[in-house]
Amino acid sequence: MPGAHSQLAGKRVVLAVTGSIAAYKAIGILRLLTQQGACVQVVMTNSATRFVTPLTFEVLSGSLVTCDLFSGRQDMKHLSLTEQADVMLVAPCTANTLAKLALGLADNVLGTMALTLQCPLVICPAMDGEMWSHPTVQAHAKTLQSRGATIVEPENGELASGQWGQGRLATEETILTTVHNVLQPRRDWLGERVLISAGPTREPIDPVRFFSNGSSGKMGYAMAEAAAVRGAEVVLVSGPTHLECPQGVTRVSVVTAHEMLQALTARFDWATTLIMTAAVGDFRAKESHSHKMKKDQWNGEALAVERTPDILLALSALRTNQRMIGFAAETDDLIEHGQTKLQNKQLNMLIVNQVGGEQSAFGNDSNEVIVLTPNSSPCPIQRMPKRELADVLLDHMNNLSGSPRPQPPVSHPIS
Ligand code: CTP
Repeated sequence: MPGAHSQLAGKRVVLAVTGSIAAYKAIGILRLLTQQGACVQVVMTNSATRFVTPLTFEVLSGSLVTCDLFSGRQDMKHLSLTEQADVMLVAPCTANTLAKLALGLADNVLGTMALTLQCPLVICPAMDGEMWSHPTVQAHAKTLQSRGATIVEPENGELASGQWGQGRLATEETILTTVHNVLQPRRDWLGERVLISAGPTREPIDPVRFFSNGSSGKMGYAMAEAAAVRGAEVVLVSGPTHLECPQGVTRVSVVTAHEMLQALTARFDWATTLIMTAAVGDFRAKESHSHKMKKDQWNGEALAVERTPDILLALSALRTNQRMIGFAAETDDLIEHGQTKLQNKQLNMLIVNQVGGEQSAFGNDSNEVIVLTPNSSPCPIQRMPKRELADVLLDHMNNLSGSPRPQPPVSHPIS
């Protein structure tokens, strides 16, 4: 996380706190913002004041907290605050406030301010897991995103209810990194054309059964979003996932390893960098049945399988001067297996993930990896949210030794 003390010097942040059990976490966020030099004005909904007193925020921010639209002293404050703000951060944001923001309701200070906002809006939802996954809440989040708001997704973990699910407020580090990115977006990948593969592949056995794996696609989608935010043109070739295509990214959907190979080959010439996060299936059924196989027709004989194409190897043969980066999924001897793949697949970089067990890279929102490059020693990267990790990995790719930024002739990607 950007840690320099003056990094937010001169920045005016409106921190809006809503009535979630996570309201107390806004205190930590406020402290980090002020430590980094930001001038923070806190706004609270009435229900937020039932969890934490405005006095706490007033002492820590050094300014009066705005709670009430109608109290005389706040006289049109909602307008002056938003006119001057560099960013408005809603943390935590309840399902109720998310709905109000999406619908443009202005029955409290926060909603009124949001309608007069002239700066970026960062929303950090926190709620019960079932509420977060409810289609109405998801639709509101998407509406706000489509209007340019940044949604910092809640994390998986234990919730206030004692249940486990996705609903916990993102960590302070993730929220602060997002604020930094929104205020000072780095454009160091401008001019790069990045081809990213993500998700699992699916190899059909018959119309209802298939071989696949547990990859969620989250790491690849995070890489695509990070590269696009940092200025790259990004084409994301994705196996079946439930993820939304990140803003500014062109997605090409595929199902099988063969389709993924075709989609990547067609665009490889265009790319300056290939990032293969996809968990490509290594085997497919020798024979895929066009009708559903009846279980009584199966006598217990082994299903005949054959290898799918190794996409990285196939593309290595077509390489002009693209940077090629692979992701390896390993259960053991991570570095040893990784080094072999780095060499065999002739990659500029291989990022090794641990799969299997509770901390498996598959499906998790966070990940820890080891970065392998041909001429340096393995570089472990500690566990962090995948979106944050994506930025760290892009930084590593910037530093690839002996890999000057290649510039193949520009052609348009086929989407
Ligand atoms: N990969 C690929 N084509 C395949 C299999 C994998 O291009 N048929 C790519 C992956 O996208 C990843 C890298 O190769 O970037 C390493 O994938 P991994 O599954 O870890 O290794 P495999 O080569 O499949 O070897 P193994 O399954 O034996 O570990």
